Amino acid sequence: MIQTMHNNIENKKSIYLPEVATLVKKKKLTDLDTYFEFELKDRPLGHLYGQFVEVSVPGIGEAPISISSPPTATNRFEMVIRKIGQVTTAIHSLEPGDAVGIRGPFGSSFPMESLKGKNLLFVAGGIGLVPARSAILYALQNRNDYKDITILFGSRDPSQRLFTDELQEWKSRKDVTFLESVDKCDPGTWDGNVGVITTLFPLLKNVNPLETYAIVVGPPVMYKFVIMTLYDMEFSDKHIIVSLERHMKCGVGKCGHCQINNLYVCQDGPVFTYDDIKHLKEAI
Ligand SMILES: Cc1cc2nc3c(=O)[nH]c(=O)nc-3n(C[C@H](O)[C@H](O)[C@H](O)COP(=O)(O)OP(=O)(O)OC[C@H]3O[C@@H](n4cnc5c(N)ncnc54)[C@H](O)[C@@H]3O)c2cc1C
Ligand code: FES
Repeated sequence: MIQTMHNNIENKKSIYLPEVATLVKKKKLTDLDTYFEFELKDRPLGHLYGQFVEVSVPGIGEAPISISSPPTATNRFEMVIRKIGQVTTAIHSLEPGDAVGIRGPFGSSFPMESLKGKNLLFVAGGIGLVPARSAILYALQNRNDYKDITILFGSRDPSQRLFTDELQEWKSRKDVTFLESVDKCDPGTWDGNVGVITTLFPLLKNVNPLETYAIVVGPPVMYKFVIMTLYDMEFSDKHIIVSLERHMKCGVGKCGHCQINNLYVCQDGPVFTYDDIKHLKEAI
């Protein structure tokens, strides 16, 4: 069911040659996370939901970053980058008009086409909302193609919430169930649910595990508990779709940095059904 990258890079000139992308917009979302909109000169990026690109800063290095916007016919695409080390700090210091190198898009994608006619349950923790957003926005743009859409989002505390305007919009929509939680908060700073993301599941009504696909993206610790909860709700492994993060270098299945047994996360993933990876001890 999961679409992999093998055919979608065939037409590119070189999978190793970065292409110039210009920063057009930048907005700080949290203390460490900044939104970036980039533009390629000659073509749309041509990505699918859940894919990533390798972003390079000359003289510094390269980092895999998920594309946060849905597929589009324009040359622009969006990312959210957490300032964590050398490359991500260098990207944070860019201003509109500055350029980076882009290779990709790479990796497998959320199978949004084959999920048409199904219920979608998005479970996003922290910066996991970034790749999930690409699929969420696509599903909302094509709302009639899907049945019930439920979005669960968890943040460490209120200051870590991403895309707050969009969260508000999702909350106010009648055709979407949006529930949110923070792990902790100071008194008087948050009037919503407090607790880890799994504390939202008991609030869900009438989830039919046979007609629903869960798309789960978040920090490693989240997967185990979310999957246990989905099992309690009688979801099958094929109805649980996850996106994995691994250290990567080449992004195209050559260097082995992202390898787990016989899988290359950069090429066979990052999106997998839980059925595909549950036997791999290291995966989750
Ligand atoms: C498929 C994929 C998609 C990603 N999407 C995003 C995204 O949308 N936004 C975003 O901010 N980041 C994303 N990341 C993570 C991002 O690639 C790393 O944070 C980045 O490579 C760090 O580079 P750096 O040079 O700034 O830090 P480094 O100096 O290389 O590392 C700083 C610290 O972060 C750790 N680290 C680096 N990479 C990873 C990783 N992949 N997993 C766990 N720890 C890591 C290092 O061990 C070190 O402790 C993604 C990673 C993958 C594999
Ligand atoms: S990053 Fe090189 S093989 Fe996956």
